Amino acid sequence: MTTEQNTPRIPVFLDCDTGIDDSLALSYLATSPQVHLVGVGTVSGNTSAEQAASNSLNLLAMLGREDVPVIQGSRDHLTHAFDGGVPEIHGYNGVGDVELPTASGSVTVGNAVDALIELSHQYAGELHIVTVGPLTNIALALRQDPTLPSRVRHLTTMGGAALVPGNVTAVAEANIWNDPEAAAEAFAADWDVTIVPLDVTLENTLDEDDRHRLLASESPAAQALGKMLDHYFDFYLSLYGKRSCALHDPLAAAIADRGVNPTVAPRVPVTVDTTDGPGRGQLIADLRGQRLGSVDHDGVRTRVVLATDRPLGPHLLNTIMSSTAHLQESAA
Ligand code: BDR
Ligand code: CA
Repeated sequence: MTTEQNTPRIPVFLDCDTGIDDSLALSYLATSPQVHLVGVGTVSGNTSAEQAASNSLNLLAMLGREDVPVIQGSRDHLTHAFDGGVPEIHGYNGVGDVELPTASGSVTVGNAVDALIELSHQYAGELHIVTVGPLTNIALALRQDPTLPSRVRHLTTMGGAALVPGNVTAVAEANIWNDPEAAAEAFAADWDVTIVPLDVTLENTLDEDDRHRLLASESPAAQALGKMLDHYFDFYLSLYGKRSCALHDPLAAAIADRGVNPTVAPRVPVTVDTTDGPGRGQLIADLRGQRLGSVDHDGVRTRVVLATDRPLGPHLLNTIMSSTAHLQESAA
C-alpha cells in the first residue's frame, strides 16, 4: 500500500453494522493512504453484530488487511433487542447475499467496547472514531469509561436527517432509529463530533457504470463490492428512479480522512428524540438562524454536515481500486 510521505496517518477505529455501504466504507478506510485502521468493532443494525464481524473479517482478508483486528460488539441495543436487520436492503447475510471467501483469521476475542477503550489509551489524543451503524457500542464505552472523550480526537458519525425526511420513519434515519438512547448519550458527551446525515449522503451516489467498473476489476474484493451493489441498487430503484445507491457510510469515512471536505457544517446543539411517539429517533439539530449562511453556536463541539466540496463516487472508487490494483500486482 502506498503511504504519502511525511503525512502522519490518522488512527481510526471503525464501528459498523456491515452492511453493503458499510463494506464500501470499510474498504475505503482499509485502503486510504491517509488512514491507519487500528480496529473494527461491530454492532447489530443492517445485520447482527456477529454476522457484521464475519463480513468485516472476510472483506478485510480480501483486501489484504488481515492485520486489522475485528472485534464483535453489542448484539442488542440499550433498551431493546436487535430486530433481525433489513434483508430487503442488505440481503440475509448483510452483504447482498454475496458469499465472501472465509478468512483464515478469526474475529478477535473480546468485546468492541473494551477494545475501543483500550485503543483510546494506546492512541490517546489521536484516535478518530468513525461510526456507520447504531451508536450502541459508543454509548456503552462512555458508560464504562466516562473519561473516554478526553482521549479521542474526533468522532465522525453517519446518522440522522437534519432538514430532510427520515428513511425509517418520517423523521428518523436508520442508525439513530435503531438505538436513539445510544445516539443521545453519544451526542451529549464532551467531544468533537461531526454528524454526516442523510442531507448529504443521499446526494452522493454510485450508478451502473461505477458498478461495472468494480466488476471489471482484477481485484476479487472490488468484484465482490460490485456484486453486492446489485442487491443495493434494487432497493434504491424506487428512490432514485434508476439503478444506483446512496453512499451513506463511505461519505462519513471520506469526511473523516478529509478525502471529501464539508463546505457547510454549522456547529449547533443537537438532541435525539427518545420518546415513544412519532418523533422517536429524530435527530433534532437547532439550525435556526442559518438562512443567511452557516452560524456556529459558541462552545458547541458538534457540527452537522449540510454540504461538501466534491462528489464522493469517483474518489471512493479510485481509492479502493488503486489500492486493490497494487495488491494484485504484488501477488502476481
Ligand atoms: C444507514 O443505515 C444503514 O442501513 C446504512 O448502512 C447506513 O449506515 C443509512 O441510514
Ligand atoms: Ca451502516
